Order: sequence, then C-alpha cells, then structure tokens
Amino acid sequence: MNKHEDLLKAEAIMRKNDRGTYTVPTHGLYPFQWNWDSCLSALGFSHFDEERALVELETLFEHQWEDGMVPHIVFHEPDEGYFPNTDVWQTNRAIPTSGITQPPVAGFALHALNQRSSNRSAIADRVQTLMGKIHAWHQWFYNFRADSDGLVAIVHPWESGRDNSVDWDEAFERVPTEGVSPFVRRDTSHANPEHRPTDEQYKRYIWLVEKFRSLNWDNSAIAKESPFQIIDPGFNAILIKSALDLADLAESYGAAQLATESRSMANRALDGMDKLWSEKLGQYVCYDRVADHQINSPSIGGLLAIFAPVPPKRSKTIADTIRRLSEVTEYLVASHPPGTPEFDELRYWRGPVWLIVNYMIAVGLRRAGEDELVRCIVDDSIALIETSGFAEYYGPITGTPCGGDSFTWTAAMVIEFFNLFDTFIKAEA
Ligand code: GLC
Repeated sequence: MNKHEDLLKAEAIMRKNDRGTYTVPTHGLYPFQWNWDSCLSALGFSHFDEERALVELETLFEHQWEDGMVPHIVFHEPDEGYFPNTDVWQTNRAIPTSGITQPPVAGFALHALNQRSSNRSAIADRVQTLMGKIHAWHQWFYNFRADSDGLVAIVHPWESGRDNSVDWDEAFERVPTEGVSPFVRRDTSHANPEHRPTDEQYKRYIWLVEKFRSLNWDNSAIAKESPFQIIDPGFNAILIKSALDLADLAESYGAAQLATESRSMANRALDGMDKLWSEKLGQYVCYDRVADHQINSPSIGGLLAIFAPVPPKRSKTIADTIRRLSEVTEYLVASHPPGTPEFDELRYWRGPVWLIVNYMIAVGLRRAGEDELVRCIVDDSIALIETSGFAEYYGPITGTPCGGDSFTWTAAMVIEFFNLFDTFIKAEA
C-alpha cells in the first residue's frame, strides 16, 4: 500500500474531472454534472480544497427546481456523446437538466463540510443558504413521494443510483417497451457493452422518461401515474441520514424550526423502515408500492440501509450478512450476491463493487461498532484501486476494473478512506 501515491493520484483525477464549478463523473461516458456524484465528490475536495468542495454543492443547488426537486443531471455544456440528452428530457429549463432525482446525500455532505471547515464563520452564510435548499428538497420528497410511514418511493431506476439492479426486474416488467422513439445508445461506445445494462432495459428506461415528459414534468402527476414506484431501503436510509445531519447542522445555527421538522421527518421514516426488513434474507429489501409487496431480492440497497441509525439488532444482522458475502467474494461489498441466479460479476449493479457504497456502509458499520468489518471493507477498497486503478466499479471476485476509468467519486472515496478511516487501514508493510 502506498498512501502518499494513492492520494496524489486521487487528487489528480479530481482535478482532471473538474470543470471549474462542477466535476464530471468521468470524461466521455458522463460529461455533465451528476447529483450524488457531486455531493460525494465534494467530500473528497474538502480534504485539499475546502472552497472548491462548497462550490460543488452550490453549483448543483443553483439548478434546483422551483418545487424543490434537485435533478439527477445538470447539462451545463452541450455534449453529443451522451444519451439520453437534453432533446429527450425536454425539461424546458434555461440550463437543461434531467427531470428525475437521485439519492439525497447533500445533507450528509454539507454537515461534513461544515464540520471539517477550517473557518466556519467565513462560510456560515453560504452553509445556511444551502441548508434551506436541502431542506426544501427533503420536503419535496415528503410532499410528492412519501407514504403514510414517511418512506419515499423512486419512480425511475435511475433515481436509485443503482441503475439496473436486480431489485427492479419484476416491477420493470410492468413498464412497456412499445411506442418508444427509436434511439442510439452512447454508453456502449464508451464502455464494454457486457458491463452495461441491456437494450431491453434501456427501452424501459426511456419509456418512463417519455411518459414523464408527456406529463409536462408535473411531479404530482408523475408520482400518481408511474407504473414503477419502489421504496428502496438504501435511498430512504440516505434521506434519513441526511435529514438527521441537517437537523444537527440547523441546531448549531439556531435554526430550531428547520431542525425540528427535519428530525421528525427522519424519525418517522426510521420507524417505517421496519416494513422493509426481511428476516429470511438478513437485510432490508425494496417494497413495490404498485404491487404492494416486498421484493425478494438481496441487493446492496438493503445493506446500504445501515447508513441510517437503524436499531442495533438490525445492524448486527446486516454485518453478519456482509461477513457471509466476504466468504464468497474476494472484495467487499458485492452489489448482488454470488450464488443467486441473477448474479453477474461485471454487469452494472448486478454484482460489481462500488467504492461509494462501500464508504457509506463503512460509515454505518463504524457507528454500529463493527470495527473489524469496517477494516475489511476499507482494505478491500484500497486494494481494488491499487490493483485495478480508479475505475467506476469492479468485479467482486476478480477485481476486474469496469465501466469508465479515472472516476471522480472513486478518487474522492479513496481520499475519504485515508482521512477518515486511517486507523482502520493496515499499516504499511
Ligand atoms: C450511473 C450510476 C449512477 C451515477 C452515474 C454517474 O448512472 O448508476 O449512480 O450517478 O452513473 O456516475
């Protein structure tokens, strides 16, 4: 292990993908600003350029919609190399954006940035402005997507950030493929098609986008009419964690009302999470809101749920499930377990490891006192970048680098691991 060299490489990748006021996830494959990529990447910046970290969040929130939604992509500069581009989304905004959202990690990120700041009073106004905007986004979720338990649904697989997870397969059958305008995919010219979603899945993704567009991006109508409505435990855990962190931040600024609202949203959802628990699988699972039942799929969204302060008996079982995964993989944490019929070592979210998910799981496990397991996850993450470079994702058995390379959030997570989890990393040989 070479910490110094790894950090230099990570920082260089973040600089290379820096477009001044926002970062792109990687050159070519993803040429715009992505929502949760930016928020997690800001954490990386915070260790070597605090100002740049805050700007990353500010840029994203400049594109928040009037109803509070924060889009999953901001198309700052035209780039023909991506599909679906602005002509498909047609959201009619001065700077085009997509019309769906992504996991709300911003509250967690802002809280961390503020805590790490070397001069909190200098950034106080900016932090408070962002705090209000993030709270408005959280309220948007509760206004448009929540059920009586306070849990929120996603209406498109892309909102989960785990684009073609096995979790969506059954519900995705309800999404038609007929009538979709002909299109040419661009992702498969940048990355190995074997590592990417299938054409069949792509048609369904685009059917949903065209449906929402036909509803004029009216979020009330979309929430009612989408045939795809899933409560994802990982997504909800991120929202809960962000809302709790935002509440703490608000308290430190004397914003009592925001703090109370935020905390009560989070606590209600935290109680609601129990309807997503599967004793059989030893983890949380998704819930199909249209079909009204749990989805019997042991994907990583149900392990990522540990990012929220779930009850100790739940975190203990999740830790045991991850330990079992470590017996059948070389690198933690596979996005879907080997041994299941759907497992696909190298295909997008159907087996591979993502460092951002490892990081959030590690944060949760550390809170739960599972230090030994944290150490394994951090060691595996560092081993992956040292043997396979800063890829988008990796095969959990072979460590094969997949998807795009020189990936911003992979670099950011390496910086986080070395700074936050230093004591968990094996001493240099
Ligand atoms: C893919 C991922 C998503 C990510 C985006 C940019 O679509 O599934 O989570 O935000 O790439 O990295």
